[in-house]
Amino acid sequence: MSSFNTRAVHAGQEPDAQTGAVIPPIHLSSTYAQDGVGNLRGGYEYSRSGNPTRDNLHTNLAALEGGTRAFAFASGLAAEDTLLRTIVGAGDHIVLGNDAYGGTYRLINAVFGAWGVAHTAVDLTDLAAAEQSIGALKPKVLWLETPSNPLLQIVDIEAVARIAHAHGSLVVVDNTFATPALQNPLALGADVVVHSTTKYMGGHSDVVGGALIVADAELADRIAFLHNAVGAVAAPFDSYLTIRGIKTLGLRMERHSDNAQAIAERLESHPAVESVLYPGLASHRGHEVATRQMRGFGGMVSIRVAGGIEAARQVVARTELFTLAESLGGVESLIELPAAMTHASVAGTALSVPDNLVRLSVGIEDIEDLTLDIVTALDSLATA
Ligand SMILES: Cc1ncc(COP(=O)(O)O)c(C=O)c1O
Repeated sequence: MSSFNTRAVHAGQEPDAQTGAVIPPIHLSSTYAQDGVGNLRGGYEYSRSGNPTRDNLHTNLAALEGGTRAFAFASGLAAEDTLLRTIVGAGDHIVLGNDAYGGTYRLINAVFGAWGVAHTAVDLTDLAAAEQSIGALKPKVLWLETPSNPLLQIVDIEAVARIAHAHGSLVVVDNTFATPALQNPLALGADVVVHSTTKYMGGHSDVVGGALIVADAELADRIAFLHNAVGAVAAPFDSYLTIRGIKTLGLRMERHSDNAQAIAERLESHPAVESVLYPGLASHRGHEVATRQMRGFGGMVSIRVAGGIEAARQVVARTELFTLAESLGGVESLIELPAAMTHASVAGTALSVPDNLVRLSVGIEDIEDLTLDIVTALDSLATA
């Protein structure tokens, strides 16, 4: 099964052996009958430790990212937490991109920081700065996000992974924004891929989940231990919803990318917009690297509003199709003010975001309607 969409539809989705059901059943059972103590029928004993529906999702995720094994969790942060428990301990250092998702930063800073894990935030789009701090700190882990949330910065995965590996660091890439439809970090040298499957993978804003996909079998064994021992596993119905979403991931990402590109181009010349951040624009600092390492630029667009925070607040209040809400990656368009919403937890830190920044999760609706909606909201500022 070589092509992406074929894998998305079929990996881990064999028809049910017993009934022929084309869609494998959702296994809700928490426990499994044993034929004598320890004599398991299908290898399953208890659904925290193993569940057929979650295993189907694991098979699918590993196939999409090109990993040896994958693990599904109750949320993206649960996945990150289990990964960090596996790979760092007191006295270790994490280098992370200086615009990582606020929740990731909070986990590293407030939770792992309290347990003696140090961290340094670095501009990983600057390879000289990356080389300098990774060389000096020799961190256990390099954590990067590309495109990043919410500034849409692009990190050259291959170049940064080479630097990190030369200094013995493990490379973790949060691939939530790009998804494996557009970018494969493991093929570019990463060791672990992280997802908030809540976003594009699920794709319909109806399930919270996370995933880890790993290249190395020994590291996978260590994660498997904590997946069960900590127990933040994905529920069967959530696993099913995620599988169902993934089947259309390729199609959705094409449409998200087309719509986002059109909106980014349209807003670049709008008088109420100071700047548009979208890696598909030739004006974007990371455009060249994104063109090299991605197969599309994704559905996320951020804009800086010319009139500052008050104008930004008005824009997010005035759109009608773009719903004011946190999260992203669903078929419906969303709009939000990161400094006051998704990234409020990093206010006042090195990772704080500009207060006039508005983030758009561009959905798959008709582009004429989406453009009219956002342009009308911006026009109302320009003419006020
Ligand atoms: C890039 C990124 N990584 C990780 C997460 C955390 O995922 P979750 O909200 O599913 O715990 C998010 C959530 O917004 C995110 O945007």
